[in-house]
Amino acid sequence: MNLPEQVTIYEVGARDGLQNEKTAIPVEVKAEFIGRLADAGLTAIEATSFVHPKWVPQLADADELMAELERRPGVNYPVLVPNERGMGRALAAGVGEIAIFASATEAFARKNLNRSMDEQYAMFEPVVSRALAEGMRVRVYLSMAFGDPWEGDVPIPQAVAAGKRLLEMGCYQLSLGDTIGVGTAGHVQELIAAFGDPSALAVHFHDTYGQALANTLAALQAGVTTVDASAGGLGGCPYAKSATGNLATEDLVWMLDGLGIRHGVSLDSLVETSTWMAGHLGRPSPSRVVTARSNS
Ligand code: HMG
Ligand code: MG
Repeated sequence: MNLPEQVTIYEVGARDGLQNEKTAIPVEVKAEFIGRLADAGLTAIEATSFVHPKWVPQLADADELMAELERRPGVNYPVLVPNERGMGRALAAGVGEIAIFASATEAFARKNLNRSMDEQYAMFEPVVSRALAEGMRVRVYLSMAFGDPWEGDVPIPQAVAAGKRLLEMGCYQLSLGDTIGVGTAGHVQELIAAFGDPSALAVHFHDTYGQALANTLAALQAGVTTVDASAGGLGGCPYAKSATGNLATEDLVWMLDGLGIRHGVSLDSLVETSTWMAGHLGRPSPSRVVTARSNS
């Protein structure tokens, strides 16, 4: 099937998951959530965002969370940073890795960043330079890489041009975001192939149309070895109403286990954590695997 032997799971539940939940989650619960995710074996756990607190009130406690967070050896806790103001906050919080987040479309750049696409690059450049000078690694997301609620299908050359420009800034990895979950497996393979070399690519699927796992398998076959997922399938984007939760980490782990692909994460611990978190959120987890395990 042309699959990798090992996959890195990049966990986004505490950031992408919680940024869109209506229930306010106390900072100590977030810290415990992240601690439990590390206990489950995850080694890349996106913790929060240093964005404008008015834009994403759910993550307004980012400074406090990073002060409280117990860092485990061998685990990275990247945070989203949009601009120099956010970078200053991240540095003060002792962050070791950041992620910037760009848009493949003009419409979403405006909605999510209050910038045109050209202005987004201008905003990110000094952030990346500063981070690299501080010895940090920088990841970059490309949102709306497949489709956009305002602009429709995103042409592959448009997504590739934006992605390459961002990688050229010095980012170590580009995560292709299907922010509203409209992509399908053939599109995924075509987009990855259009980049030429998949080694710096990751995939970030939202499960709006139920395609996230199929798209992940397609991406693995196309040579991608880092997959973003959200414990319990939490998530969405507050500036794209049609975005639902991400691919659930449990569903990903179930598929990888079935394929014999190594990932280092305990399914039982994850299910326990997502069930515990669902209690705090006051709603059941949308993950099929969490649901199946809870009923068995
Ligand atoms: P803006 O209003 O244009 O900001 O927002 P500004 O640069 O004009 O600054 C206005 C004021 O905000 C200033 O204060 C700044 O200091 C302050 P004043 O001088 O007026 O007193 N400010 C800040 N304060 C704290 N932290 C900051 C910060 N920046 C400015 N970082 C901005 C521009 C980028 C800040 C805003 O649009 C923003 O915060 N956007 C973030 C939106 C967001 O977080 N969306 C969700 C994440 S993206 C996503 O979910 C997709 C993804 O999962 C991948 C996928 O699924 O595709 C990653
Ligand atoms: Mg997302």
